[in-house]
Amino acid sequence: MQGLIADIDLLEVEKDQPESCEFKVTEENATQTQRKLYIESYGCQMNFSDSEIVTSILKKEGFGTTSSPEHADVILINTCSIREKAEQTVRNRLNYFRGIKKHNREVTVGVLGCMAERLKSKLLEEEKIVDLVLGPDAYRDLPKLVKQAEDGTKGINTFLSREETYADISPVRLNSNGVSAFISIMRGCDNMCSFCVVPFTRGRERSRDPHSIVLEAQDLFDKGYREVTLLGQNVDSYKWSAEENNKARLNKKDDVSEVVNFANLIEMVAKVHPDLRVRFSTSHPKDITDEVLYTMKKYENICNYIHLPAQSGNSRVLELMNRTYDREWYINRVDAIRNILGHECGISSDMIAGFCSETEEEHKDTLSLMDYVKYDFSYMFFYSERPGTLAAKKYEDDIPLEVKKRRLQEIIDKQSEISLERNKLDIGKQFTVLVEGTSKKSDDKMKGRNSANKVIIFEGDVPKGSYVTVKVTDCTPATLFGELV
Ligand code: SAH
Ligand code: SF4
Ligand code: F3S
Repeated sequence: MQGLIADIDLLEVEKDQPESCEFKVTEENATQTQRKLYIESYGCQMNFSDSEIVTSILKKEGFGTTSSPEHADVILINTCSIREKAEQTVRNRLNYFRGIKKHNREVTVGVLGCMAERLKSKLLEEEKIVDLVLGPDAYRDLPKLVKQAEDGTKGINTFLSREETYADISPVRLNSNGVSAFISIMRGCDNMCSFCVVPFTRGRERSRDPHSIVLEAQDLFDKGYREVTLLGQNVDSYKWSAEENNKARLNKKDDVSEVVNFANLIEMVAKVHPDLRVRFSTSHPKDITDEVLYTMKKYENICNYIHLPAQSGNSRVLELMNRTYDREWYINRVDAIRNILGHECGISSDMIAGFCSETEEEHKDTLSLMDYVKYDFSYMFFYSERPGTLAAKKYEDDIPLEVKKRRLQEIIDKQSEISLERNKLDIGKQFTVLVEGTSKKSDDKMKGRNSANKVIIFEGDVPKGSYVTVKVTDCTPATLFGELV
C-alpha cells in the first residue's frame, strides 16, 4: 500500500494510498446454504480493520462472504469522508448497487463508516437504495438492523460511544496475505486538526485493553502471521489503565493501578515472539516520545519505520491547522529519531498542499522541510474543505484549485527525487526481508519488506512468511530490487 502517491486526478495513482484505496472481498467462503455477505471498504487501514470486525459479527449470524455483489444477500459499503473525492467514489458505487437492486429486490444495502456517521439520516433520504446506516461505533447492532431491513424497515444507528473498542471480537481476516495483519489498538481522535473530519466521524479517543491486543497478536502468530501493524489515529497517545477502563467489565485480575502507555504496549507485543514484526501507525509529532524511540531500539522485531505526518513545513500554517506543534518542534522530533535510531530508520509523511491562506513562501517551507527530513515516501494531497470542520467554519478556502494542484505537483516531484536518493543509498546493502509472496507484476519474482518498510523485489523460491537476507542491486523511487544472499 505504500509508494509515491497523491490526490491529483491527473496522476490516477490514488488507489495505492491508505486513505482512498478500495478493498473488496476476494474470498468466496459462503457455503451453498449460507446467506452471502459482500463488503467493500474505502478509506484508511482502520476502516479495513473495522470491515474485518463487521464480517466477524455477521459470521456469527450465519453469513459467509462472496466476492460478487450480484450474488449477495447483504451488500455493505464501509465509507470514508476524509476528502470530497472519497465521498464521490462511494456515491458512484451506490449507483452501481442501484442497478443490482433493480434486478434483485431482496438484497439489503448498508452504508457503514465515516460517511454514515457524517451524513446520518440524510443518506437514507438522498440514496433511496440504502436500507441501513451504521456509524463506526454501532456495528454490534448490525444483525438487528439487517433483520429489520429484511422485514422492510430501514434502520439507522450513528451513536458514538466513549467505550466501544470491539476488544472481544475476533476479526475475520479479509484479503489477507497470511503474513501481515492489522490490529486496532484505539479508536477515535481527540485532536482537532482544523482540516479534519475524523474527530466528528469517529468520536472520542479511547484505548483498547492491552491484554486483548497481546492475545490477538499471539493468536495471529500461532496462525502463521509474522507481522502486525498496530493501528490508531494517534498511537502515541495510547493510554490504558485498568481502573479507568473499567476492570470489572473485562473481568481481568490485574493490578488496578496498572497503567500502560504506548511504549509499554509495543514492548508487550514485541515480547509475543522475536519472529513477530511489530509496526504501528499513525504517530503524531506532538506525542511521539523518546521512550517510544528507545523501546524501538531495544527490540529487533519492532520495525525501524515511523509514519510521522507533518502536513506542512510552515509554522503559521501548522498553527492554522491546529496541529499544536511548529516547524522547530517537528525538526526536533526528526533529529531525535535520527539520533536514537539512526539514518536507516524509515520516515514517511502526509502533506497537504494549498491549505487556507497558504502563501507561496509558506508552500516553499514544506518543500524545504522535505529536503531536511529526507522522507522515504509521503502521502500527498491538496486541501479539500470538509463541512463542519474548524477550518470550514473559520477560514476561507481561498487557494484556487490550479494553484493547489501545482503546489501538490511540486511536492510530489520533490518526494520522488528524495525517494530515489534515499533508495540509492540502499544499493549494495543487505537487509532482512520478510517474504510476503510473489510480486504483483511478475509471478517468478518474490516480494517482501525490510524493517524500514521498503518493498524489495527479488528472484527466488522461498515460502511466504519466512525471513531471508537480500542484497539490494537496483532501485526506482518506489521499489528496491535485489538478490538472495
Ligand atoms: N491521524 C492521522 C491522519 C488521518 S487522515 C494524522 O494525524 O496524521 C490521513 C491524512 O489525510 C492526513 O494526515 C491529512 O494529510 C489528510 N487529510 C485529512 N483531512 C484532509 C482534508 N480536508 N484535505 C486534504 N487532506 C486531508
Ligand atoms: Fe485528523 Fe488530526 Fe486526528 Fe489525525 S490527529 S485524525 S489529522 S484530527
Ligand atoms: Fe476516512 Fe474515516 Fe479513515 S474519514 S481516513 S475512513 S477514519
